[in-house]
Amino acid sequence: MRLKRILKWTASAVPLALILWGFVAYWMSTNDCTRDVSAPNNPMKAIRYCEYGSPDVVKLDEIEKPAPEDNQVLIKVRAASLNAFDAYVIRDTWLGRLIFGLRKPRDARLGQDVAGQVEAVGKNETQFKPGDEVFGISRGALAEYACTPERALAAKPANVSFEQVASLPLAGLTALQGLREGKIQAGQKVLINGATGGVGTFAVQIAKSLGAEVTAVCSTRNLDLVRSIGADHVIDYTKDDFTKSDERYDVIFDNVCNHSFAERRHVLNPKGICVLAGMGGAGVKASEAIGRIAGNIFTARASSLFTDQKFAQYRTKSSKQDLTLLADLIRTGKITPVIDRRYKLGEAPEALRYLNEGHVRGKVVITVEQGNNI
Ligand SMILES: NC(=O)c1ccc[n+]([C@@H]2O[C@H](COP(=O)([O-])OP(=O)(O)OC[C@H]3O[C@@H](n4cnc5c(N)ncnc54)[C@H](OP(=O)(O)O)[C@@H]3O)[C@@H](O)[C@H]2O)c1
Repeated sequence: MRLKRILKWTASAVPLALILWGFVAYWMSTNDCTRDVSAPNNPMKAIRYCEYGSPDVVKLDEIEKPAPEDNQVLIKVRAASLNAFDAYVIRDTWLGRLIFGLRKPRDARLGQDVAGQVEAVGKNETQFKPGDEVFGISRGALAEYACTPERALAAKPANVSFEQVASLPLAGLTALQGLREGKIQAGQKVLINGATGGVGTFAVQIAKSLGAEVTAVCSTRNLDLVRSIGADHVIDYTKDDFTKSDERYDVIFDNVCNHSFAERRHVLNPKGICVLAGMGGAGVKASEAIGRIAGNIFTARASSLFTDQKFAQYRTKSSKQDLTLLADLIRTGKITPVIDRRYKLGEAPEALRYLNEGHVRGKVVITVEQGNNI
């Protein structure tokens, strides 16, 4: 009797506590935009999104210039680049609100990929000094200045522009680490689905530099582009379905994940690996993306427990070692970033609208000039 009463009380108390927690969490979630209303003492221009929504919510604001913490580097930003992630975070979706802040985005800054000059260093910083040219990952890269830990940066090769290295970090790391997940080896047949976006254009070139035979899947207008960056074979997805082919691949690097587990298994070698890198880029609708994520986790990954063909999922990690490796590939001309369009910092909303169309060829770069020409 007593146990029954306890269970009954728990059953009604838990949902009530959750509703109360949700209510408090919702109203507590806020960001710098509402806190920092006074004029900044040491101002800089930065792109922020204070609310969720379309790229219209993205604004060029004047905010306090950041100061580096002990292990951080302050970078005078010369160029940044956009990734599908920057388009996803501003969207108003329930999943986004759960991750990035219930009522408002907790962190209003935007941008990940940065390239620029070191302006100042924290007291524990030993590798870089003011004036050094660097690139890497920095939250809030769409700004005149950004702070990031030294471990998220590498030295910029002297023979490469700021715009070129700014396009490299997240997309290059995703391509490199994903191909590693696929245990890629020289001579193997590798298929890259979604070969012409930010990640895909680097994946094609890195796979070629590792000695693979590369088949690129893209739309008609991009066939020449993928050939120009080294693809050995091309498949136009508007005319042919790669999963219906008689060819077999050792590695499928899948940026789109728009085919089922069984369909992809059909074109994988008996011990092949399908790397689940993404779900279609900035153009994909939230509802479609969630379906593809669920398909990846519940069908592809789970089913691959029972076969020798593996479906591997991974999360890109910021790695100084890998950034240095990418810097070396770009310095020696083994990879060349494909830059589709360039925008000024103040034009970030327009750049995000273009990214959202879903057919970027390579990367969209934001150039950052100091002063009024923003
Ligand atoms: N695993 C991770 O930790 C991680 C990290 C970063 C990014 N990602 C993911 O990687 C994916 C790719 O990112 P991205 O920056 O390369 O995106 P993106 O620049 O927006 O490119 C998406 C590409 O997908 C192609 N595409 C669209 N529909 C297609 C189809 N049916 N078949 C073949 N290709 C198709 C588009 O080419 P067309 O113009 O020819 O249609 C476009 O080139 C995203 O889903 C992103 O979220 C994952």
